[in-house]
Amino acid sequence: MQLFLDTAKLEEIRPLCELGVISGVTTNPSLLAKAGRSLEEVVAEIAGLVEGPILGEVKAAAVDRTTMVEQGRAIAALHPRIAVKIPLTAQGLAATSRLSREGIAVANTLVFSPAQALLSVQAGAKYVAPFVGRLDDIGESGLELVRTIAEMFRIQKSPAKLLVASVRSPLHVVDCALAGADIATVPAGVLKQMVQHPLTDAGILRFQKDESAASGEK
Ligand code: E4P
Repeated sequence: MQLFLDTAKLEEIRPLCELGVISGVTTNPSLLAKAGRSLEEVVAEIAGLVEGPILGEVKAAAVDRTTMVEQGRAIAALHPRIAVKIPLTAQGLAATSRLSREGIAVANTLVFSPAQALLSVQAGAKYVAPFVGRLDDIGESGLELVRTIAEMFRIQKSPAKLLVASVRSPLHVVDCALAGADIATVPAGVLKQMVQHPLTDAGILRFQKDESAASGEK
């Protein structure tokens, strides 16, 4: 399973992409607002840091297919590695099938049911993004949704990639990998948590202590 970074902040992307474990970046209107930047402003800089796909969403105010298609074409023209994020609504599906037929990579976002995921594939989406954390937030199982979609994609030999979004913890990431997801997009904080373990830090301290004790004995 690949890992994408779920942020529009260059100061988060820069140090973490140096780890060599990030295969792409996802943004959304909320993340861009938090970064205080527009998609147009950040795309080239992100592309200079990360080699893989960059996912940029149509404006939240774009709710009709015509506007989504227009914005999708403009977003796709920003960079050859960009994929256009479109919410999974009826209008969004119509825009997805139009843009996909034009050869533009589309990621359907805000997916909360297996039925929506099935429609997304039929519309030609390259990425299907179920939101794990937001389902957990309302007392449903985000992981169960990922398991079901992964199984459905396996049975159907779906060409779409299952991209898990709304990831809140390292456990989410591991569980989604075990469920068969293709990609998990993770916030910077979750990626940092994945790196750390107190026993790793304690182990280094003990090695340092033993090493310096041994060199003192010589
Ligand atoms: C992907 O970019 C999604 O929009 C994002 O993962 C949503 O995460 P959230 O539910 O924590 O806002």
